[in-house]
Amino acid sequence: MKHSQDLNEDVGEILLSEDQIRIKVVELGKRISADYAGRELTLVSVLKGSLPFMADLMRQIDLPLRIDLMEVSSYGGTATESSGLVRILKDLSAPIDDRDVLLVEDIIDTGLTLNYLIRYLRGKNPRSIKVCALLDKPARRLVEIPIDYVGFEIPDAFVVGYGLDFGEVYRNLRFVGVLRPEAYES
Ligand code: PRP
Repeated sequence: MKHSQDLNEDVGEILLSEDQIRIKVVELGKRISADYAGRELTLVSVLKGSLPFMADLMRQIDLPLRIDLMEVSSYGGTATESSGLVRILKDLSAPIDDRDVLLVEDIIDTGLTLNYLIRYLRGKNPRSIKVCALLDKPARRLVEIPIDYVGFEIPDAFVVGYGLDFGEVYRNLRFVGVLRPEAYES
């Protein structure tokens, strides 16, 4: 993999601009605040891709909330395809029994990671568990799972930015763009 020094050069189409993302995050925050009014929330972010989304979303939710972080990796797959086998690299740092949990993801692709995580977290007896994903790529879905809050449905393109990486690079782009084939074919 060879990335340019100016990461913008590796991006073709800009799928979602910084402004579009900002407006959507505000909208999601309002909906979540209304839906959970009078309750307390635990946001669980799945590292690393959801880091910018989590940081922005939590500041648009007007409720008492706690955050926790998990990190998982799928193994047995390739750089671009998940295998469905999920390994927990970092587990929750506090119990969630009897708590309202909102799982925060950057993207739902095959759904395999989320499917595993929901079942895993249900085993910890939360009062409720819902999912908020910035991006949904329905064309790639292998397992049907309910996503309660979706930012954008996107086509089956190789997207990077706003947390999404290729080879751990591009996460810091402020927009979501389509990676040029030259950047991943070399
Ligand atoms: C991405 C994303 C989800 C998962 C979705 O994480 O954050 O966790 O893939 O894919 P799926 O629906 O096909 O299971 P990734 O494994 O790329 O790790 P990262 O967040 O550290 O980039």
